[in-house]
Amino acid sequence: MDGGVRPALSCAIYLSNHHTAMSCKDCLSRRDFLARSALAAAAVVVAEACGDGQIGPTSVALGNGITINLADFPELATTGVLVDVGHERAVVRTGPASFDAHSRICTHEGCDTAVANNRFECPCHGSIFAIDGSVIRGPSTGESIGPLPDLAVQFNATDNTLTIQ
Ligand code: FES
Repeated sequence: MDGGVRPALSCAIYLSNHHTAMSCKDCLSRRDFLARSALAAAAVVVAEACGDGQIGPTSVALGNGITINLADFPELATTGVLVDVGHERAVVRTGPASFDAHSRICTHEGCDTAVANNRFECPCHGSIFAIDGSVIRGPSTGESIGPLPDLAVQFNATDNTLTIQ
């Protein structure tokens, strides 16, 4: 409790042990102390309940899907080229009418990876993911991480668009 806010109870102990007057302007009321303690305990319970033993997010919510016009991304005319389509997503054409899409959010601590050298490169701790999202190299911190999430993608040939989850 050094330098921090003291609960009223510890102020009373301090006073009884030192027999000196002490300003209690920084002390918490008993009610505040109990409320904060209950919140801290609840946070620990929630954290433990959510723990799965894996470092970093196992799934990343990207919000609503997006629709892109393929005419805006001429690189997607070629198969096997990883293209940053914005909105934390990247796409690769795998055939005449087929595409794969992945989240660019790093599965280590959630940094936005960059598309470079036809792969995903995380600027935060150096993780590298292959074009299919698999891990080529984990973070410099040494933790084990999972692949980048695969995203559902739908090609609309009529209007030449892709809708990506
Ligand atoms: S957040 Fe990507 S390597 Fe740490």
